[in-house]
Amino acid sequence: MQNKQLNISYQVFQSMDELPAEWSSLLQKAVEATERSYAPFSNFNVGAAILLDNGQVVCGSNQENAAFPSGLCAERSACYYAGATWPGAKMLAIAIAAKQDGKLTATPTYPCGACRQALVQYESRGGVPMKVIVGSAGRVEVFSSVRDLLPFVFDNLDDNQGK
Ligand code: THU
Repeated sequence: MQNKQLNISYQVFQSMDELPAEWSSLLQKAVEATERSYAPFSNFNVGAAILLDNGQVVCGSNQENAAFPSGLCAERSACYYAGATWPGAKMLAIAIAAKQDGKLTATPTYPCGACRQALVQYESRGGVPMKVIVGSAGRVEVFSSVRDLLPFVFDNLDDNQGK
């Protein structure tokens, strides 16, 4: 038997103003994308912006449906749109922000488990780490890779196919 430990390091900025310009402009696009969210059931408006290696920024927002499971999170709407539009492009970073009652949340919004699984697969396909920038009215956190948020990812099928 062995005891193992995992460590992840990430950066914490006290506000968006402290962020380097490249990331703050991506996060700003995520904030703008919250305005295009359709969330009449949760009233939780999420926006995501993905920077591709071809320079494009692809935005997504949560789109809810009366049949609840049919809705989709902001992160997956962004990465699926990016994958469907620029299939060869690598995803370099994703920024995420959320608003409630028209105001940015006080703490960062992290991608849900299903979104982490989807994002990590795009990260693997791209072969480069995808930064995750989670914003809020207060602090902003930057993770250097999606895998840091989902270390024990399901990727067994990738061993044989799917890459
Ligand atoms: N949601 C996202 O879009 N991204 C997340 O990371 C967390 C949750 C959405 C799903 C649903 O429309 C609403 O937020 C409340 O869960």
